[in-house]
Amino acid sequence: MLSVSAAIRQRISVRRFLPTPIPESQVRELLDTARWSPSGGNLQPWKLIAVAGAERAAVVALAHDLLAHSEGGVPREQGSDLVYPPNLWEPYRSRRYQLGEQMYALMGIPREDRAGRLAHVARNFEFFGAPVGLFFVIDRRMGRGQWAHLGMFMQTVALAALAQGLGTCMQEFWGTIRDTLHAHFALPETDLIYCAMALGVADMSAPVNRLRSPRAAVDDFASLRGF
Ligand SMILES: Cc1cc2nc3c(=O)[nH]c(=O)nc-3n(C[C@H](O)[C@H](O)[C@H](O)COP(=O)(O)O)c2cc1C
Repeated sequence: MLSVSAAIRQRISVRRFLPTPIPESQVRELLDTARWSPSGGNLQPWKLIAVAGAERAAVVALAHDLLAHSEGGVPREQGSDLVYPPNLWEPYRSRRYQLGEQMYALMGIPREDRAGRLAHVARNFEFFGAPVGLFFVIDRRMGRGQWAHLGMFMQTVALAALAQGLGTCMQEFWGTIRDTLHAHFALPETDLIYCAMALGVADMSAPVNRLRSPRAAVDDFASLRGF
């Protein structure tokens, strides 16, 4: 059985999946594990929508329709600004840049191939070929604490998926059409779709899945005192 440490170290963002269907029972089992994620006051401030089959096809079609009518290859709806702060500063700016460069290099898409890069970005809206898409929803009245707890839940889902032999990719890109999705799913006014997650069997023959993004060393982010 995969140890927790091994799972944390092995999890990567999978950006190419096999079409192998995932049965509803497996998604239920995954969520049955992930619901043991912690949250302040045990609020469990997460909600989740899982789509497969025709429901998945409907959101994929919706997203591509919006993409076709958007400027610059990225739709930007009201409320889609939850991704990065404006004018990202160092070291974050460079890390983001480096990720893009590493990913496109693996895929053989040069910097000047803007169409090629946009085509990759657009594949976010196909869940990178994954048969299941998860949408993570939070009550918009919640504060920063609950948002952090939603993040913990998402990582728990990703690790529980790995334990089942499944790959994931968290996808804030879907947040660029959160208002349309909100209407599509007929959610209550108070609900807000934060992020999606692709779920399926990783296609490990795809070069993009060889990406192992770097991390800062412990001493770059941690200050250990009094030991
Ligand atoms: C909340 C969240 C949203 C993300 N959204 C996207 C996304 O929309 N598209 C994408 O390709 N990767 C997305 N990622 C993946 C990150 O780029 C990735 O986690 C990071 O580069 C570290 O790489 P790793 O997950 O392979 O360890 C997201 C990650 C997180 C945590």
